[in-house]
Amino acid sequence: MNKDEARRKVSEIAGEHFRRGDPVGWFEALYQQSAGDASWIPWADMQPNPMLVEWFEREKIKSGGKSAVVIGCGLGDDAEYLAAMGYQVTAFDIAPSAVDWCKQRYPQTRVNYQVADLFTLSPNWLFDLVVEIYTVQALPTVFRERAITSLSRLVETGGYLLAIGRYANSPDEQDLMPWPLTREELDGYTRAGLNEIQVEVFHDQQTPPVRRFRALYRRST
Ligand SMILES: C[S@@+](CC[C@H](N)C(=O)[O-])C[C@H]1O[C@@H](n2cnc3c(N)ncnc32)[C@H](O)[C@@H]1O
Repeated sequence: MNKDEARRKVSEIAGEHFRRGDPVGWFEALYQQSAGDASWIPWADMQPNPMLVEWFEREKIKSGGKSAVVIGCGLGDDAEYLAAMGYQVTAFDIAPSAVDWCKQRYPQTRVNYQVADLFTLSPNWLFDLVVEIYTVQALPTVFRERAITSLSRLVETGGYLLAIGRYANSPDEQDLMPWPLTREELDGYTRAGLNEIQVEVFHDQQTPPVRRFRALYRRST
């Protein structure tokens, strides 16, 4: 299946779930129906996200054995990258089939893979680095402020949150899934008590290019 066919399949499966009033159940359904064929999963590039890697290389980040968490980890490439960079990594996803898939792909992994829902996280979970890539943008807009608040709580004092996704200049550009985030939505991280360090907006290398953001926040108190 090519990416366009995979996106059409996602719209079909997600659409059925939305009509039933279940806006998150489609993730597990998609992973299950793919039966281990990654070409069904439009976001599965089977490599760490290039904007994450570029950021690490540019900022010359040293993990120092610190803790990190990957939100909505999908097939695990970003979590494995952070583990290879020396972090103690937890990675979670709401879809049990995605978590099983990660464990099958990486049987020797040092990553602590968990099934968890970002809306009901343990208050004991605190991390030096929180990485959110493409999960908030896959949620309908009505859930976003709550999602952003919930994952901001995972940031330890002095820790960072790095968010990467599609960027919309205005809500008019949010009609097609995956719904890009607006600046107003991104400001949810500061409303949740984090300090904005940097928000970069740029076009990526895809054809046609897609407008993306990479945003870094810190919890200072
Ligand atoms: C668009 S995918 C992105 C996956 C991965 N971050 C990547 O960039 O390849 C969104 C992921 O978030 C997961 N997800 C959706 N809602 C979630 C929730 N409430 N809690 C945890 N994970 C969730 C989905 O199962 C899916 O794997």
